[in-house]
Amino acid sequence: MSLKPEEVAWAIEEEIKNFSEELALESVGYVLQLGDGIARVWGLDDVMMSELVEFSNGTIGMVLNLESDCVGVVLFGTDHGIKEKDIVKRTGKISSVPVGEALLGRVVNPLGMPLDGKGPIVTSHSRPLESHSPGVVDRKPVCEPLQTGIKAIDTMIPIGLGQRQLIIGDRQTGKTTLILDTIINQKGKGVFCFYVAIGQKASTISRFVALLEEHGAMEYTTIIVASASDPAPLQYIAPYAGTAMGEYFMYKGQHAACFYDDLSKHAQAYRQLSLLLRRPPGREAYPGDIFYQHARLLERAAKLSVYLGAGSLTAIPVIETQANDVTTYIPTNVISITDGQIYLEPDLFYAGVRPAINVGISASRVGGKAQVPAMKKVAGSLRLDLAQYRELAAFTQFGSELDDNTQAQLKRGEVMVELLKQNKFSPYSLEKEVMITLIGTKGYVDDIPLNLVKTFEAEFYLYMEKNYADLPENIAKTKQLDQPAIDSICKATVEFKAIFKKQHGL
Ligand SMILES: Nc1ncnc2c1ncn2[C@@H]1O[C@H](COP(=O)(O)OP(=O)(O)OP(=O)(O)O)[C@@H](O)[C@H]1O
Ligand SMILES: [Mg+2]
Repeated sequence: MSLKPEEVAWAIEEEIKNFSEELALESVGYVLQLGDGIARVWGLDDVMMSELVEFSNGTIGMVLNLESDCVGVVLFGTDHGIKEKDIVKRTGKISSVPVGEALLGRVVNPLGMPLDGKGPIVTSHSRPLESHSPGVVDRKPVCEPLQTGIKAIDTMIPIGLGQRQLIIGDRQTGKTTLILDTIINQKGKGVFCFYVAIGQKASTISRFVALLEEHGAMEYTTIIVASASDPAPLQYIAPYAGTAMGEYFMYKGQHAACFYDDLSKHAQAYRQLSLLLRRPPGREAYPGDIFYQHARLLERAAKLSVYLGAGSLTAIPVIETQANDVTTYIPTNVISITDGQIYLEPDLFYAGVRPAINVGISASRVGGKAQVPAMKKVAGSLRLDLAQYRELAAFTQFGSELDDNTQAQLKRGEVMVELLKQNKFSPYSLEKEVMITLIGTKGYVDDIPLNLVKTFEAEFYLYMEKNYADLPENIAKTKQLDQPAIDSICKATVEFKAIFKKQHGL
């Protein structure tokens, strides 16, 4: 092979012309100390708070402490293979998660990585984990209901879109079931759901996923999982990740609801982190800023003003109490941040009152304004009936002789308690809730024996659907209940009751 000098010269000239010196500047630090998922890193002088850094084994960490001589980094993965003096690289990115429609129907970890084996999540949108909550003028009062499909909640402790409503109770009292019911009930209602599972067993969560899939609820739902076996930093960022995913829809003018199950475990994960980062412990060894952690998370829930698209983000946190004690540190904090609470009680649960909601002490401070007119009309007297019943029941439990009036009030209360019972995973439509509350509070069920009340209810819906379908349809369409409609429902009830009584030999 012969080389032509002119060709070689030309090639060399081209190379020289195109040569440019590319200096890749990387800011790196060195691991000083490592243990329990926390690294102290020296040399990252210009690193930002909440910036992601990368370790030599590929594990990602987040900067949480900026100190004078070193920074404290929490690890989102294993520390296997990281040694002292290993290099730590800056990424220049503040921790953020992918957001958007691509996340619907998926199960992801708090960094937005898929856990369901359904392939990568392709989206061009992302949002930082932490972002400012909308200010006063950006908001609008809560004005639309978030229909949970649970009679006791929709009638007496209503939740509005953009509200923050706490579910609080001991272990195994049906907290998660309330959430799953609510998610199932959002089908076709245009509310995107984000279920954040913190510190739960992976097997339990996979059961929830199967259940939601079965009810066709995964189409509009994302599940963010930081299970009990995941590192505490992942559990700590999980609610912020879920909120960021929900915010995307809120700022697009749509509706989203975030369920945090539960914030007690979130507080424990944060306590673990803080103690390992050597932050000073406060009450119950929680760090001093635990209130701020929850306040700034829940403050991001909002109903936006019309100028910003009128979208909303509803926040439904869960708190687990020990032996019904709501006066400990974390429960009192979250109670004071939220707009209302749903109290679940083991005594009621074991007595067969399920959902085990204590409506006497549960409250919703804004949701009532968001109730539809039809519901508002029938729900007021229900609260009154139940309050009177509770008072009398406490008073008369020693079995003294009762006058007719008292006995009637007691029976009404018992019937209403029976009517408010509801099986799991069977949310009710608005029109059913309105009709049953109406006839219950008007006393049409009072003469039915308690053990037949549930049968009466089920057959009543069927009867109405078959013979007077226009009545419930009208409530669903107009959300109103005028006097003629009330009269028609009452008339239909009298007809049905005659048939029912005959059938059951009453
Ligand atoms: N309305 C209901 N009707 C019948 N069973 C119910 C109802 N609500 C809950 N349960 C049952 O009660 C049990 C506890 O419910 P769930 O897991 O929702 O409680 P939890 O408070 O979330 O418990 P944990 O503290 O373990 O998270 C479950 O087996 C559930 O199926
Ligand atoms: Mg639960």
